Amino acid sequence: MKPKLFTTYTIKNLSLKNRVVMSPMCMYSSTTQDGTANAFHFAHYESRAAGQVGLVMTEATAVVPEGRISHEDLGIWSDDHIEGLKIINEGIHRHGAASAIQLAHAGRKANLKNDIYAPSALRFNEQLQTPLEMSTDDIHHVVMAFKEAARRAKEAEFDTIELHGAHGYLINQFLSPLTNHRNDNYGGNKENRYRFLREVITAVQEVWEGPLLVRISADEYQEGGNTMQDFLYYAGEMKEQGVDLIDVSSGGVVPASINPFPGYQLTYAETIKRETGIATGAVGLITHGLQAEELLQNERADLVFIGRALLRNPYWSKQAADELGFSLEGPRQYARAWK
Ligand code: FNR
Repeated sequence: MKPKLFTTYTIKNLSLKNRVVMSPMCMYSSTTQDGTANAFHFAHYESRAAGQVGLVMTEATAVVPEGRISHEDLGIWSDDHIEGLKIINEGIHRHGAASAIQLAHAGRKANLKNDIYAPSALRFNEQLQTPLEMSTDDIHHVVMAFKEAARRAKEAEFDTIELHGAHGYLINQFLSPLTNHRNDNYGGNKENRYRFLREVITAVQEVWEGPLLVRISADEYQEGGNTMQDFLYYAGEMKEQGVDLIDVSSGGVVPASINPFPGYQLTYAETIKRETGIATGAVGLITHGLQAEELLQNERADLVFIGRALLRNPYWSKQAADELGFSLEGPRQYARAWK
């Protein structure tokens, strides 16, 4: 029987040829420092599509320049970025893969020289600046920037959008009581802490009809952070708002230490899927076909996000298929090696 990992999966109006997703990974390679994609990005993403990843997701791509993690991040704050992003898409689509872009704002984790912004004026660590507390005008500006970015993502022909709500970046900073000390409508209880993400989702949906994913960090590894009950509330709200899938990661909100082991974030994806009924993606030290197959067959998640294993081997799908005893069709050009 065909392994579930290599069965099609439909998200909204989009059919993926298999369940392998390239996890978003910053490449810090926009060498002109203006967020533009270049030959590195074209080859990097296309080679994973040639390697039979079903959904190739770009790295965190900044919706405003001050929301970059570094000066070398990809950007989508200007119409000038569309052309390069479109070339990334052409490369991905050439191999029958679907594409996704991760839209991001780093908030207080922006490692930049200029002013940086966050829900509260709390610095992440000694190396990064203390951010300026965002005014309601600032918040509105960023919500509109996500909307404009979604419009550009559509023009650049992406099939899917993922909002980066994990790893302690801006959306996550609003969600977490550890980083959000506001006493206006955007802080305090969980309903208020969710308000920023709610507004971003609504704004994006005004210009984007395609599949919408949100990545969250479902464990903050520190006392006083969001609890699973809080995450289940957020997941329920996202489902209600029409988010198609939650990509479940963890950590990064505060500099807490994590002890990663194979599948260490899996139970969060499983709990959210089971308790709310929303589709989930599993990520984190998934390196083998059998591991991926187990979590899909046991309905612990719907998609499998692969990060570092795909940096080591762009043909990870082939490796996983071999492990599962399945003959995966590869690029026509490589047929003599893919038997
Ligand atoms: C990452 N990760 C990450 N996550 C994210 O949501 N947006 C990003 O831009 C990045 N950038 C990034 C760069 C690099 C070099 C690495 C290694 C990781 C996290 C990544 O998507 C994934 O969640 C983790 O790496 C865990 O999965 P693996 O690598 O164990 O499969």
